[in-house]
Amino acid sequence: MSTVVITGTQWGDEGKGKIVDFLAEQADTVVRFQGGSNAGHTVAVNGEEYKLRLLPSGILYKGTHCVIGNGVVVDPQCLIEEMDAMISKNIDVSNIKISNRAHVVMPYHKIIDGLGDEGRGKNKIGTTKRGIGPCYIDRDDRIGIRICDLIDEEEFAKKLKEILPSKNLILEKIYNHAPLNYDEILKEYNSYAERLKPLVCDTIALINEEIDEGRKILFEGAQATMLDIDYGTYPYVTASHPISGGVTVGAGVAPKKINKVVGVVKAYCTRVGEGPFPTEQLNEIGDKIRNDGHEFGTVTGRPRRTGWLDACVVRYAGLLSGIDYMAVTRLDILDDFEEIKMCVNYKYNGKILNEIPASLKILANVEPIYETFEGWKTDISKIKNYDELPINAKKYLQRMAEVTNIKLGIISVGPNRDQTIVVAKDIY
Ligand code: GDP
Ligand code: IMO
Ligand code: MG
Repeated sequence: MSTVVITGTQWGDEGKGKIVDFLAEQADTVVRFQGGSNAGHTVAVNGEEYKLRLLPSGILYKGTHCVIGNGVVVDPQCLIEEMDAMISKNIDVSNIKISNRAHVVMPYHKIIDGLGDEGRGKNKIGTTKRGIGPCYIDRDDRIGIRICDLIDEEEFAKKLKEILPSKNLILEKIYNHAPLNYDEILKEYNSYAERLKPLVCDTIALINEEIDEGRKILFEGAQATMLDIDYGTYPYVTASHPISGGVTVGAGVAPKKINKVVGVVKAYCTRVGEGPFPTEQLNEIGDKIRNDGHEFGTVTGRPRRTGWLDACVVRYAGLLSGIDYMAVTRLDILDDFEEIKMCVNYKYNGKILNEIPASLKILANVEPIYETFEGWKTDISKIKNYDELPINAKKYLQRMAEVTNIKLGIISVGPNRDQTIVVAKDIY
């Protein structure tokens, strides 16, 4: 049995896609278990960039099974566009499976997400407007439409007829938006259903059979710990569980069947959207990180907020997800810094905090306690072995492992597969 969960430890965009793609070379199956097209995972292979939103980042290997689990909210239009983009690049998409229990993102979800978030004014979350929150709301309100309904023409027509009038009321009365047309949605979604039907199955049975057969399975997290609906900086979070425990409910895999957890840690920190970010650098340092790292959102193109590594949140992620190894990414982006800082603790009202505060009022006002490291001022992007890294880079990494209490597993020094240093040989 060999199952590995890849989870984000910060606020997303840590490079999960790159790490999943790298490890997927040895995997038989890659499974997405939460989130939806709010994710933007960029994978670079042979100079070509692939931007993945719903497709698991195992898609670039021929023969690897790619599963969209029941915990994912599926926008069929987006999925089909992504599949077509892959086909146009000669990537095989015949190994995709979609859970019959996954919920379907409907047109009203996307509209309500956009208008709803704008309507919050200065309290807006800054969502990706992909309909993620509203789709999970309908799931929890037990009025969602699932993939098994989508592919059943009669059932889909019935469910849409039941739900659309109340959604149109909301659109018209609350958002002053034109109502959506039943026949148009029916026609559009029936055509998606026809295309996706052959890929739909009971992925719970599939994944568990594969585990029992000893196939190697990677579970690919989207978003990250600090965006988790319960453990993140609520309400500035997404609507699902990116922590490793999300696999149990989002893929139908029992906790005891999870062997290892890898936490992806960007060597510094970024955040897209609103909400507290204790180590944010609203200054030249933040600008330099953004420029050197080309930190602009994959999905929305928004400039990402930037700051120093916050080891407190990584330590918290380690605790929540039981992280065995860290995959540190984008270390090369720090190549040109004289000095690098790492937040190792938070202070509030003169006292060191032992926990991540639940109250945003407190979190927004903590004082980060920094340790300062001398930069290495060397191009590390071609280094293949840990021993060859500059001593100052190693000092930074070792301190990161110490403060977070998580072992170093992988060090990534560039977007490509061959820019990956494997420190732990037993991830699989
Ligand atoms: P994800 O959402 O966690 O998969 O991360 P994103 O794909 O949104 O953002 C990470 C970006 O960094 C992508 O463009 C990757 O190709 C790129 N990347 C990943 N690892 C490295 C690395 O070690 N160095 C550099 N320079 N880029 C990296
Ligand atoms: P990947 O998988 C970074 C953020 C949004 C917003 C909040 C809620 O690429 O790491 P949502 O649309 O989910 O309701 O938005 O979460 N967010 C992400 N930020 N990376 C992501 O995904 C994100 N997915 C959502 O910016 O602040
Ligand atoms: Mg991303």
